[in-house]
Amino acid sequence: MSSSEIHEFYKKSRSDRIEAIKEFAKLSAEDAELLGKCCSLEFDTADKMIENVVATQQLPLGFATNFQINGKDYLIPMAVEEPSVVAAASKVASIARKGKGFEAETDEPIMIGQIQLLGIKDLEKAKKSIEEAEKSLIEVANNADPVLVKFGGGAKKVSVREIESNKGKMLVVHLHVDVRDAMGANAVNTMVEVISPEVEKLSGGTSRLRIITNLAVERKARAKVVFDKRILAESFKGKDIGMDEDEIVEAILDVYELAASDQFRATTHNKGIMNGIDAVAIACGQDWRAIEAGAHSYAAFERPYTSLTKYYKDEKGNLVGEIEMPLAVGLVGGAVKTNPMAGVCIRILGVKTAQELAMVMTVVGLAQNFAAIREIATRGIQAGHMALHAKNIAVMAGAKGKEIDAIGDQMAAEKNIRVDRAKEILEEMRK
Ligand code: MEV
Repeated sequence: MSSSEIHEFYKKSRSDRIEAIKEFAKLSAEDAELLGKCCSLEFDTADKMIENVVATQQLPLGFATNFQINGKDYLIPMAVEEPSVVAAASKVASIARKGKGFEAETDEPIMIGQIQLLGIKDLEKAKKSIEEAEKSLIEVANNADPVLVKFGGGAKKVSVREIESNKGKMLVVHLHVDVRDAMGANAVNTMVEVISPEVEKLSGGTSRLRIITNLAVERKARAKVVFDKRILAESFKGKDIGMDEDEIVEAILDVYELAASDQFRATTHNKGIMNGIDAVAIACGQDWRAIEAGAHSYAAFERPYTSLTKYYKDEKGNLVGEIEMPLAVGLVGGAVKTNPMAGVCIRILGVKTAQELAMVMTVVGLAQNFAAIREIATRGIQAGHMALHAKNIAVMAGAKGKEIDAIGDQMAAEKNIRVDRAKEILEEMRK
């Protein structure tokens, strides 16, 4: 099995990085060539994906190294503009793999479609009639998507909720659909539209809204990691943080507990999780708005808004991190098929099902979150960000190639990271 622990990947040239990825993922020559192109999404394709297209927008695409999930190694594609995100995920993955790596699991890929019913005289009676007709409603829904049914998916369950609104009481029917390797919006939206006339007849009401919900509570992914406190302390080697291993664990727990109890902190804490998840989602052609909506909604589902991760000490005093959140992702349809780079990313990742992709993404979310709170609890967030931030400032000042690292390093050493300073150094250098 190939290892995702690629020594000094960040120091390699672009072509050597592509070579390493090609070898890791047993990538075809065609895919490797695509990876080497800056504009793999051609205008003609982009023009068919959305409306009024004039260009394509680009983001850096990096690969996080060192990840081991359920005993399997992954090189993880991340498309993101923020410095430190890819490096931080890779760093945490390297700490985790010195222990047992990450464990992850998912629910079945069940999405929920909603049908809103208005003008019902007897809500109880309508609810009962719909529930009694569950089997036939499922049959009608499944007739609309025989391919999904052939692959083991399809509508599985009907449930009914009563909602109190400013316009009075209404019923909402939920159709629970196993969407297999699809994100599911198309399949579910079609099914709820198809069964709505029957649901109207059964309830005596009128259907209005018929659409999927992004609060995919039945499609959650979970991940877990145990950080050995000794290995965790070693990960700060060379950086004087003035804490022993138990103090580091306690400091991280202090920071976590605020996110668990305070919405202001929880929002930023969860933003850190989404830094990782969105980056993988974008690289892999996923609907990251749906994922974002589901994540934050789930953070406040049947509880006050809180952290999507959880940290505690095990009996040996080691730090355990866990995450649980909905993740509606797909491998069929959408940008995975139309955007060539998304296809290459999925092949490099080597995920065979949407559930496997969801597991990888939750792990990245947990790693990204841990990277942030590990820094915040010890050196402070700016220390780690400084070097990469300085390089960005150097680019803004017009530095090119080797000038970027040299100017960035000098500004970080001077602790004076400003565009005007970068320009001064650049002028000196070019004299
Ligand atoms: C910045 O993009 C993300 C963090 O703010 C997350 C956090 O505070 O946990 C560093």
